Amino acid sequence: MNEIQIAIDGPASAGKSTIAKILANDLKYVYVDTGAMYRAITVAVLRSGIAPEDESSVSALVPSLEISFAPGEPVQKVFLNQKEITQEIRSIEVTANVSEISSYAAVRDLMTQLQRKIANNGGVVMDGRDIGTTVLPKAEVKIFLIASVHERALRRYKENQAKGMTESLAEIEAAVQKRDYLDSTRLISPLKKASDAIEVDTTGLSISEVVKIIKQIINEKHANNELNLV
Ligand code: CDP
Ligand code: CDP
Repeated sequence: MNEIQIAIDGPASAGKSTIAKILANDLKYVYVDTGAMYRAITVAVLRSGIAPEDESSVSALVPSLEISFAPGEPVQKVFLNQKEITQEIRSIEVTANVSEISSYAAVRDLMTQLQRKIANNGGVVMDGRDIGTTVLPKAEVKIFLIASVHERALRRYKENQAKGMTESLAEIEAAVQKRDYLDSTRLISPLKKASDAIEVDTTGLSISEVVKIIKQIINEKHANNELNLV
């Protein structure tokens, strides 16, 4: 099969990055975690002392930032101006502020440009909120992953506990709901299922079951000649 673009969108903790990473690995594609980019910008804003609600100062800061990635286990390494920030991007403070900063036009424009450049040659699995709708509207495969809020919060709670983070399940559930709300109601590129995306409800499903469903979707599209292969 020639190399295609695969877009995976959905709300927080639906399993996007876990599934996207496995798919990319199996297909020998590049995996792009666009959420990590918005989180990296948020780290820079918080470090600079600029108030997250100060849109014009945030917008002026963003073009001067250099975000880069390197392979890593269990997660990709993320760098801001060549300094590693892999752990910092997952902090409670960054998670609490990332949706506001991601809603700004200047931030979205720059990130969208960067993401399109990376995906230009195909062979990419990109996960985020607006990949199928805005970043890669011609992606050959678009998946919209969902799961109940409670299950998503529980997944994040277990993940955080393993990392020694102490937020309660109720706090995580409230934060997930708030982020879902902000991400799906913002004016520019809100979290939304693309009209040609296939929705997969992962509630009660294991990671391997979800991977299997998505591979079936890709294989069916291939068999039906629906993949616009170059
Ligand atoms: O992994 P998790 O679901 O916690 O979130 P993420 O994918 O790391 O994304 C963090 C935040 O970045 C989201 O809540 C959105 O506010 C923003 N984001 C976005 O606006 N557009 C994207 N394509 C990806 C993330
Ligand atoms: O990227 P996103 O925020 O959508 O979710 P994730 O970071 O891939 O997944 C959040 C957590 O849920 C991780 O700890 C995954 O291992 C777990 N997960 C799960 O338990 N069952 C699934 N079907 C998918 C993810």
